[in-house]
Parts: sequence; C-alpha cells; structure tokens
Amino acid sequence: MIKFLDLHKINARFETQFHEQFQQFLNSGHYILGNQVAAFETNYANFCGTKHCIGVSNGLDALILIFKAYKELGVLKENDEIIVPANTFIASFFAVIHAGLKPVFVEPELTTYNIATSEIEKHITAKTKAILAVHLYGQIADMSSINSFAKKHNLLVIEDAAQAHGAIYKTNKKAGNLGDAAAFSFYPAKNLGALGDGGAITTNNDALAKVIKKLRNYGSSKKYMHDSVGFNNRLDEIQAAFLNIKLQKLDEDNAKRREVAKRFISEIKNKKVTLPFYNNSKNHVFHLFVILVDDRTGFINYLNTHEIETLIHYPVAPHKQEALKDFKSLKLPITELIHKNIVSLPISPVITTQEITQIIQIINTY
Ligand SMILES: Cc1ncc(COP(=O)(O)O)c(C=O)c1O
Repeated sequence: MIKFLDLHKINARFETQFHEQFQQFLNSGHYILGNQVAAFETNYANFCGTKHCIGVSNGLDALILIFKAYKELGVLKENDEIIVPANTFIASFFAVIHAGLKPVFVEPELTTYNIATSEIEKHITAKTKAILAVHLYGQIADMSSINSFAKKHNLLVIEDAAQAHGAIYKTNKKAGNLGDAAAFSFYPAKNLGALGDGGAITTNNDALAKVIKKLRNYGSSKKYMHDSVGFNNRLDEIQAAFLNIKLQKLDEDNAKRREVAKRFISEIKNKKVTLPFYNNSKNHVFHLFVILVDDRTGFINYLNTHEIETLIHYPVAPHKQEALKDFKSLKLPITELIHKNIVSLPISPVITTQEITQIIQIINTY
C-alpha cells in the first residue's frame, strides 16, 4: 500500500538529532518557555522575514490569539465581521467565532481553491474589519488584490498560513509576512510538523506581538502579575526543540514536494481528472495535492484496489457542518462542488520515485 502520508518515515530522518536534543532537554530541567522556544521564535521569524514570531500551542489558538489581541488593542470589537473563504479547514471559522467575531463566507476560485477576490466586495459592510486570507493546500492566496482591497477599505489582513510554511509570494516575501499577522500550525502532518501539537504567530507589529506574548501566558508579562485574562497557549519546549531541527530541512522538503507535484501535473493524463492550478513558482509548497473527479467514490475505490491510499480535504463544507448550522442556508455552489469532487493524492518529501510513477500509471489507466 502506498500510504497517504508516512509520518514515521518523515521523522525517522531526524532520529539521531531528536534523541540528542531530548537528552539535553531532559538534563536542562527547564520544560516550559525555555531556550528552545526562544531559539525557535528567532529562527522562525528569520525564516519568514518578520520582526516577531511567538510560539503557541496550535494553529487554532494562534488564530484566536491574533483576533483576541486586536480586541485587547481596541482595533477589533465584539461582532465585527471577518471575511473568511468558504472553502477552508473548519479552524479558520472556529477561530473567528471563539474570538466573538462574525465570519462572512466568501466563495473560492475553482482553479486555485483560494478565496475569489472578485467576490469580496459584495460582502463588505460597515462592520467588516478584516480579511482572513487562507493559503489553502499550500498555495498563497491572491495577496496583491487582497492587500490593495484591504487598504482601500481600511481592513486588517490576517493570514491563515497553517498549510503554507515556506511558500514564497512573487519575488521574495514569504507566507507569514504578507499581511498584518499570520497564524501557523505545526500539527504533525504539516510541511513543518512537530511530534505533537504546536503553532506560531508571525507579525511585524510590535504592539500586537507584545499583547500576544502576554495573552499566551496567562496575561502575564511579569511572573505572577496578570494584566489581562489570558490563556495557557504556550508552545511546548520539547516541540520547539524538534521544530528547530526540522526547520533546517524545510526548504529542501518543500522543493521535493514541488518536484512530485510537477511530475503529477505533467504526467497524469486522464480527462476524468482535473489537476490543480500551479503557476510553476515557489508560491505553492504542496501541503496537499488536490484533484477533482466526478465519480469520487468510484475513483477512490479504484485507487484503493491498486494499493494507493487517498484522503479528502475536506469531505463536508464548513457551512454544512453541524457546528456551523446557523450558516446552513447559505448558497455556496463553488464551495459545495469542491467538497463533493476533491480527492488528495499522496505527496510528501519522502515519497519514492517508484511510488510516484505507480500513482501516475494507475491514474492514467482509470
Ligand atoms: C487552514 C488551517 N487553519 C488552521 C488550522 C489549525 O491548526 P491546528 O490543527 O494546529 O490547531 C489548520 C490545521 O489543522 C489548517 O489546515
């Protein structure tokens, strides 16, 4: 069976370093917010090209903390409206709702699966205060349009970069440095994945970074002094230690993912399969390789009988989820079509040439 994602194989490459790092961590006796978190924050801010990085507990908390910090700064207030692409992982919506804000669903492009910027304008009201730009499946959203639109309407731009570590927009700016603040997830399956949960926020805004740092640690900037009702949303020291090791290989891993994607795009030739749009640049880090097929169940069964595992990201659209039932009457035909017909093929930095060839051949005979 060709696994959808072989996480053990991905992490086995770092086994010796992990063991060494764990021994040092154990010996240090410092298990929360120590040198490894501080080092990771410096390393990841440098990697993204931002002034600040704050390590946090996971990607959902990263998003919530950004919104809550803007509320604490008086930039956002209860019930402000936030533009969210209708086609995203549910966390993007949950974060907005947890922060006491109102999500406004906007349809994606069928080509890139990212927010259709031409659709944003009609959803703008006096209450609209921010756009949550999700770089879905690893491809950066149309940030030029989003940023100029935000400037015109005086909106914040928050990146949900949970799937796009290391993606480069146009010339040299990275995901995480394309708006006012960005959230990352280090869930194990991500391009930069921890061995457990983890997340980070990047920003160039000093005041925002200061509030987020405080909020993630019980609203405290001085031990046992609490100036706001904060959270326990810290990045684990041991996860930061693992991430410091893995970050060194991220660009190489992303390049490998792009190579796999290029082979799929040039060699899969089957009219029943719609391949993802890709402009051949580094703006895509192929966290996922997502195709469209009409008979999804038939296609998945066919691949399974040929020993190829697939997944669906995601089988049910956010507005059709029980948790978001208040939005179930929304008409979002592109989002619904995507959710009905998408399938994710195996892609990773450790997939072999032979496995890629096998996937291509099997799909071409479907
Ligand atoms: C687009 C997107 N946003 C947010 C998240 C939330 O991240 P986490 O699972 O670390 O909370 C994820 C990943 O799960 C994601 O894919």
